Amino acid sequence: MSSASVPPTMRAWRVVRKGEPSKALQFDENVPVPSKLSPGDVLVKVQAAALNPVGYKLMKLLPNFIAKRPHIAEYDLAGVVVDGNGTKWKAGDAVYGMITSQQTMKTRQGALAEYTGLPASNLLARPSSVPPTQAAGLTLAGLTAYQCLFRVGGLEPGQSVFVNGGSTAVGAFAIQLAKAVGCTVAASASGKNEQFVKSLGADEFFDYTKEPLHKQLEARAPSPKYHLIVEAVGLIDLSIYTHSEAYLAPGGAFVSVGPQPNGFDVPAISKLLWDAFLKPTWLGGTKRAFKIIRVTLVEEDMQAFGKYVEEGKVKAPVDSVYEFRDVLKAYERMMTGRATGKIIVKVDPEAE
Ligand SMILES: NC(=O)c1ccc[n+]([C@@H]2O[C@H](COP(=O)([O-])OP(=O)(O)OC[C@H]3O[C@@H](n4cnc5c(N)ncnc54)[C@H](OP(=O)(O)O)[C@@H]3O)[C@@H](O)[C@H]2O)c1
Repeated sequence: MSSASVPPTMRAWRVVRKGEPSKALQFDENVPVPSKLSPGDVLVKVQAAALNPVGYKLMKLLPNFIAKRPHIAEYDLAGVVVDGNGTKWKAGDAVYGMITSQQTMKTRQGALAEYTGLPASNLLARPSSVPPTQAAGLTLAGLTAYQCLFRVGGLEPGQSVFVNGGSTAVGAFAIQLAKAVGCTVAASASGKNEQFVKSLGADEFFDYTKEPLHKQLEARAPSPKYHLIVEAVGLIDLSIYTHSEAYLAPGGAFVSVGPQPNGFDVPAISKLLWDAFLKPTWLGGTKRAFKIIRVTLVEEDMQAFGKYVEEGKVKAPVDSVYEFRDVLKAYERMMTGRATGKIIVKVDPEAE
């Protein structure tokens, strides 16, 4: 499609107020398609989008004046460039990538729309072997996993890693990436997801529903101990960190995706800060590094992650695919916390 045939308005799901998705989201058929692109931005016709927990969490948490509502919802997408705007992309290029929440607040653009404007550097070329409904789910969780392992965690080929939450999207990418560089991987999930986690490449499995994980990890500590722990659930169980000297090697790091906000729970946040950062070792503080990640669009990391995708070493596991009109059902699925892989929305009904 050429930019000449881009319509003036489009269909989009917009976040119009604070609250649960059913209250916060509005389907709008007359949203203006971005007509003036900033230098460095491109216009993409979206084929598919993917949901991420951050989407509904920000809807529920942020007041309107911070979130700059209304804005289009969600961040992950796959599509086709319709206006390359003098960047490295040209009309017709198949791409995938993400918009950041900060960019959404600035430009009001998002992934749950027929068209979106975003920086050219937020995108990677979609290999023809990866359909849009899979590619849409790659970037946010995949880049988070990449940065947990390599940029923040410093994982090196041949080392060993424990992934807490091997069936979360972030955990699923972490397993595949760690295996791609020849690491040994152990991962946790509930028992029903053992086969799923092993199919991603995990060498060892821990069922967190059987017994507290730190006890299982203490009993089955590898020798040498893990070089890295990736906490891909959301710090539901901090004892995995506070007991980690038994199974995490000296010099190894505990890297977390960060606590799961259920409102601003001051006592819980204070306890986390104390246990993870402030408690001195003479008071029983843990002698292992504790790090929290916030995914950032570092171009070097995007390119490195994209190479694994291109080589077929990393795939986005897909939990379910929804039609554009069924976005609220897609959020219901996401909010069960039980998805195994990405929840995809077909923005273009023809998207493969
Ligand atoms: N900091 C950042 O930049 C960043 C970026 C991306 C994501 N995140 C955060 O990372 C977390 C994971 O996101 P996601 O999209 O990967 O999640 P997701 O795919 O929606 O996670 C669903 C999975 O969580 C598993 N799970 C739930 N409770 C668990 C527990 N106690 N232990 C182990 N597994 C458990 C479930 O498996 P079972 O049914 O087997 O329990 C289910 O398969 C979210 O909290 C998200 O907000 C942070």
